[in-house]
Amino acid sequence: MAVTNQQLIQWKQQGRAIVALTAWDYAIAQLLDAAGVDLILVGDSMAAVLGYETTLPISLEEMIYHAKAVRRGVKRALVVVDLPFLTYQESISQAMHSAGRVLKETGAQAVKLEGGYPAMVETVGRLVQAGIPVMGHVGLTPQSVHQLGLRQQGKTQEASERILQEAIALEQAGAFAVVLEHIPSQLALEITQKLRIPTIGIGAGGDCDGQVLVTSDVLGLAERHPPFAKVYTNLREQITTAVATYVSEVKERKFP
Ligand code: KIV
Ligand code: NA
Repeated sequence: MAVTNQQLIQWKQQGRAIVALTAWDYAIAQLLDAAGVDLILVGDSMAAVLGYETTLPISLEEMIYHAKAVRRGVKRALVVVDLPFLTYQESISQAMHSAGRVLKETGAQAVKLEGGYPAMVETVGRLVQAGIPVMGHVGLTPQSVHQLGLRQQGKTQEASERILQEAIALEQAGAFAVVLEHIPSQLALEITQKLRIPTIGIGAGGDCDGQVLVTSDVLGLAERHPPFAKVYTNLREQITTAVATYVSEVKERKFP
């Protein structure tokens, strides 16, 4: 049965861990979906496989193009699409327009946007009222890389209290889940206990309701990966070996 955002809330209540990964095309999405991933995020972290240095340059058009391919590969998982930098921060109407395009043009079921400050909470509330499911994202928010860097967030008492309040505000605005990125595990635990909606952690310890990783990190396809990523296989090595073998076989006229 297809996963819904209500299902994720039920799984939290039942203590059933939620499994999320990112995808950027049909082939990857199909494999992840068939392997039992519950939530597939078309994350703007796909910047890494498109050759961008940060997530900032990605356009809404690019996100929609990739989300359509991902959606075609998914039968069961909930598909969530990141709204890219400066396609939702300007105004509620800009956010409505961008999120509306994503849902209408890709067939994805939800959008994710970064930040839990008051204006963003208001935006989330308005999107939800309009029928657009929203996943929040607090802690390290990579679209703010030039302000925050990529450091762990929430290390001081003040910062950790602010992140907790942001997560609570996003829940009250109607978000169906919230990503907690690169924050101390103790803070992630506290947020997870205080919220009714599920927390999906990345670099936030083992006590979140679910976990998400960037698939290009998991598969060893990325040139670099953050310290909290677990690399389960090394596709860069495997692809290099396969292609080098092909190159030499063709040159030596061993293949075909
Ligand atoms: O873009 C992305 O992959 C994300 C996850 C790290 C949550 O936002
Ligand atoms: Na993202």
